Amino acid sequence: MNDITPTSAERAAKLEGMGCKRKRVEDIRFVQGKGNYVDDLKLPGMLYGDFTRSPHGHARVKKIDTSKAAAVPGVVAVITAETLKTVNLAWMPTLAGDAQMVLADGKVLFQNQEVAFVIAEDRYTAADAADLVEVEYEPLPVNVDPLQAMADGAPMIREDLKDKTEGAHGKRKHYNHIFSWQAGDKAAADDAFAKADVTIKEMIVYPRVHPCPLETCQCVASFDKVRGELTLWGTFQAPHVIRTVGSLISKIPEHKIHVIAPDIGGGFGNKVGAYPGYICSIVASIVTGRPVKWVEDRIENLSTTAFARDFYMDVEIAATKDGKVTGLRCYTIADHGAFDACANATKWPAGLFSIISGSYDFPAAHVLVDGVYTNKAPGGVAYRCSFRVTEAAYCIERAMDIMAQKLGIDPAEFRMKNLIRREQFPYTSAFGWQYDSGDYQTALKKAMETVSYAKLRDEQKAKREIFKRGETRELMGIGVAFFTEIVGAGPSRACDILGIAMFDSAEIRIHPTGSGICRLGTKSQGQGHETTYAQIIATELGLPADNITVEEGNTDTAPYGLGTYGSRSTPVSGAATAMACRKIKAKAQMIAAYMLEVHDDDLEWDVDRFCVKGNPERFKTMTELAWAAYHQVPPGMEPGLEAINYYDPPNFTYPFGAYICVVDVDVDTGTTKVRRFYALDDCGTRINPMIIEGQIHGGLTEAFGIAMGQEIHYDDEGNVTTASFMDYFLPTAVETPHWETDWTTTPSPHHPIGAKGVGESPNVGGVPCFSNAINDAFAFLGSTHIQMPHDHWRTWAAAEKLGLHA
Ligand code: CDP
Repeated sequence: MNDITPTSAERAAKLEGMGCKRKRVEDIRFVQGKGNYVDDLKLPGMLYGDFTRSPHGHARVKKIDTSKAAAVPGVVAVITAETLKTVNLAWMPTLAGDAQMVLADGKVLFQNQEVAFVIAEDRYTAADAADLVEVEYEPLPVNVDPLQAMADGAPMIREDLKDKTEGAHGKRKHYNHIFSWQAGDKAAADDAFAKADVTIKEMIVYPRVHPCPLETCQCVASFDKVRGELTLWGTFQAPHVIRTVGSLISKIPEHKIHVIAPDIGGGFGNKVGAYPGYICSIVASIVTGRPVKWVEDRIENLSTTAFARDFYMDVEIAATKDGKVTGLRCYTIADHGAFDACANATKWPAGLFSIISGSYDFPAAHVLVDGVYTNKAPGGVAYRCSFRVTEAAYCIERAMDIMAQKLGIDPAEFRMKNLIRREQFPYTSAFGWQYDSGDYQTALKKAMETVSYAKLRDEQKAKREIFKRGETRELMGIGVAFFTEIVGAGPSRACDILGIAMFDSAEIRIHPTGSGICRLGTKSQGQGHETTYAQIIATELGLPADNITVEEGNTDTAPYGLGTYGSRSTPVSGAATAMACRKIKAKAQMIAAYMLEVHDDDLEWDVDRFCVKGNPERFKTMTELAWAAYHQVPPGMEPGLEAINYYDPPNFTYPFGAYICVVDVDVDTGTTKVRRFYALDDCGTRINPMIIEGQIHGGLTEAFGIAMGQEIHYDDEGNVTTASFMDYFLPTAVETPHWETDWTTTPSPHHPIGAKGVGESPNVGGVPCFSNAINDAFAFLGSTHIQMPHDHWRTWAAAEKLGLHA
């Protein structure tokens, strides 16, 4: 070897594989405005659809007259439930085993519900004509309070289910009851409470919020009558699931449905489910014989497709007087709106909510969740969350603070005492989850040291004295949160969607010149998959990441996959990618052995090549082997270099993090300044540290929005009062605090590259951290729990309640 021969490390760096802060390749088109989104699609003869929607929260539909709308020049057709009944599509199955009206059938159950679909030559004509559909309503009593849903005499939301005593998940207790679901050991938890020195109990509400991606939900349906084939372009986080469900609903054979998800401008769970807009566009294309585009506006997005959370959690913790937790109980009412369209794995009507014991070693725990119908929009998606993990993390993190306060122990110290210890991993929780790996104390210690936690507490103590003397009107709050996530749905034994087991897939084809393409069943909505999957391949195969195209979102070319949500892409498809690479590498090794005339076992891998053991001068690079795969394979071997892997993970992965936040609250105005926010995340092996940082920044910004101001609010008449960004808080760069990020690395022992998911961690951990900070500011004045969102008005009101304005 001469001294200009690059070293292994130099060759590895050139590949831009795992661990490299590789620039996002997709941004080249995004920053030039060359992205290709659904609304960019223009097909010859394309029509546009728009909805007539209900102004009422609950009303009987007596009559629909479409004649005026149909007479508007440019209107091609108007569809109502009666039209849909002719093709048996007036109702559609939901992912949760319920049925949902596509268009109002006899009743409307929430404000802005879809009543009629107008199809016209252009979008504006469709919108104008939608206003001319005349609907005669008879208003009915409304209920938007989930805590009253099962009261005697509560308005019956679902008359179609009146006589159904069994739901998709067992017995129904009331006509507005959807399901009861429980986990853990009730007797053991009750016993822990009977023996406890100290207990706390608090109703913790996680309000209804919305993922509100920049790009709303939209699609273009184009039915080819001659071939009997449907092509559906759309904002789909899970294109294959849309194809399968579309086939089951429409009875169009699955091979004749082509689902394409082009670039997507944010999803966050909003684009997982199937919506009336998709069904109506498909029917409209079949009826008119022309392509039909449907694009939601912002009001429609916020008020009709996919809300998140709306959990009312009555939580209790039992502990010894020296601060060791002994039991956890939580009774929850989950508001699912008018139809149960919750996007959860079939077996888990309350998602993975039983991760509620969080990062702590609870010997006994029990949860019971009742889902109920109300006059609100359906949905219940995992908004940047793995199926209700966010609700669970918020609940346990607030409850831990409340217990620490009652015991008079510092909340960080209380957590440190109860965190699962490193030697306990793999750790089986009281709910039966097997946490794969973790080093929680090290993470919390690092977080506390980095922010000089002890000094912050000293400063807070001094400031409280100044406040008590009346020399300041500002309170300092320190929020601590430690979270454990459960991501990577999932092991197919635990998770399926409508019977489709939750695995994922990757197909890699290496071309003769050593470049290649990787096709996957996941779908990026901004997470940078085109960049990061290529990095996994670069490291696994020793080919430059720049030489690998990553393609997602086309059901005709990608192997079957369950899509991207719940931070599952890295844990599942990232693993499938690595495993497919390993199949390719095994074949390449045989070719190398043949070419070098040695046994396979006499070769060793070095970054981008197979070398003869003990004789590194004799080698074949992966690029050479790719060429050989197409013209010099050993006798009897098939030519070509490609592989597919369907990966069914043996377990979830359990990322975790320690977050600390410092706020200053003005008690006279309720204004809160976020002085500092520090986020330490551990997602196992890090593929692209820059992308991870971006994911953390984005998720923390969402957490800030949720904790500090967001709520999809309904008034008593069922009017949604927060259906635009005038009323629904979406933080801009002006309000968003500065984020400090950090990490530890505890690889997952069962994942081929040791990686865990990360995308939703900051949303999961950020919300309780902000909320704990606000609550901590007021805690020394005797306040136990202030409900979210912590907007200026509510924070001012909390101060008022404590008599601070007297
Ligand atoms: O499923 P989703 O893409 O939303 O979430 P994810 O698997 O957590 O990945 C989000 C982004 O972070 C992707 O670009 C991943 O490749 C990247 N990531 C990473 O670089 N290292 C990890 N250990 C996990 C994710």
